[in-house]
Amino acid sequence: MGREPRIRRGFAGTNETLYEDDDATFAPTTGICMTGRTSLTIVLAAGEGTRMRSALPKVLHPVAGRSLLAHVLAAAPKGTGGGLAVVIGPDHAAVAAEVKRVRPDATIFVQTERLGTAHAVLAARPAIAAGADDLMVVFGDTPLISAATFARLRDPLKNGSALAVLGFRAADPTGYGRLLVEGGRLLAIREQSDATAAERAIALCNAGVMAFDGRRAIEILEKIGNANSKGEYYLTDAVGIVRQLGLEAVVIETSEDEVRGINTKAQLAEAEHVMQARLRQAALDAGVTMIAPETVYLAADTTFGGDVTIEPFVVIGPGVSIADGAVIRSFTHIVESRIGKKASIGPYARLRPNTSVGEGARIGNFVETKATTLEAGVKVNHLTYIGDSHVGTGANVGAGTITCNYDGFGKYKTTIGAGAFIGSNTSLVAPVNIGNGAYIGSGLSSTLGS
Ligand code: UD1
Ligand code: MG
Repeated sequence: MGREPRIRRGFAGTNETLYEDDDATFAPTTGICMTGRTSLTIVLAAGEGTRMRSALPKVLHPVAGRSLLAHVLAAAPKGTGGGLAVVIGPDHAAVAAEVKRVRPDATIFVQTERLGTAHAVLAARPAIAAGADDLMVVFGDTPLISAATFARLRDPLKNGSALAVLGFRAADPTGYGRLLVEGGRLLAIREQSDATAAERAIALCNAGVMAFDGRRAIEILEKIGNANSKGEYYLTDAVGIVRQLGLEAVVIETSEDEVRGINTKAQLAEAEHVMQARLRQAALDAGVTMIAPETVYLAADTTFGGDVTIEPFVVIGPGVSIADGAVIRSFTHIVESRIGKKASIGPYARLRPNTSVGEGARIGNFVETKATTLEAGVKVNHLTYIGDSHVGTGANVGAGTITCNYDGFGKYKTTIGAGAFIGSNTSLVAPVNIGNGAYIGSGLSSTLGS
């Protein structure tokens, strides 16, 4: 501190008065400590993704229950001075919606013609022209990237480099741009289709993440041409141009697992594999018991309380929280549900969206739930479908109970009171209301309705 306040030119609406002190910059009104440099991150997501052979835009394919794009957006710098722009295709309303859902602070630009990665970056020209210190470009199909790597890539810019490229050593470099390095200096990036046999033998590859000196970026990007085998404007040509301008380009290396680019379904599966390994490790570190973690599938947003046990062969989709002491038994599938303390689920249970399981409640084998709240101590132990229902504290739902919640036109609600006992093989034709402590006979088939 102790220096004059200075105005930093940022993006529209984010101009700030900041105080500089060596590396750290403090916003005195908020007390937030920042790196001292403003940034703009541009995420490229306009590609067709034809190699996925899918009607779904590539960046909306999920890894661990979250879109490729959402993973990248979550890792990009945020907060004061951290601008975000996403470049999407002209027919990609669903991609725009995903951006707005995950990072409402992002500005969306449309690349009307897909003429290459450099052309895509310039679709966000108004954002670049606002003049951040560091301009980062990342592809929307690189979901394993971490926030720490963005920070590492920006370091060389502080020391005067005009461009830093994230590189990695690929087990199989086929398809990636190769980094041509001499004496520790980056000379050029050669795309697979333009590379000689000798260049193709290079394992050091372009991860697709770059950091530019924000003040030189437009000048560099405008010089990129399309004289290559695909006739595209390659962002990778920025390296050669930086060198021609007598500026410095450097490589920052990271592991292949962090920067796997997804172009095919096989690569999507590989990324899922890496992400699952990370999520399982994090769960084990947090105290979750899994005797066969390699058979358990988690989502990026799964949350665990203490002393949770997950038996082998369990699939957990997005939006699931599992509270202290709960046990999820084998062959159970859970999506968008809340599991209460000490609840027991499965084996062979299916919990569909908006299931809420209360403390100590038990869901047994071959039970399906949907949009249903089971209060504390409820037992639904065998062969049952409970949908659009509320089941009161301590109620016991017998084997073969079915809530008939759909008449072909509308969905209707079933309410089962606290302490009620529903005998086996009962069909509850909704809307239906079973009172507290009611007893529905077993040993016979019952059909109840309003
Ligand atoms: C790119 C790099 C390659 C690198 C690899 C890493 C170039 C020319 N090549 O190749 O050096 O090793 O990524 O994964 O940059 N996109 C647009 N508009 C376009 C073209 C692409 O927005 O006109 C977007 C795509 O949606 C995608 C990203 O840019 O998110 C990369 O495009 P992609 O076709 O996947 O490039 P690669 O062939 O993988
Ligand atoms: Mg790619």
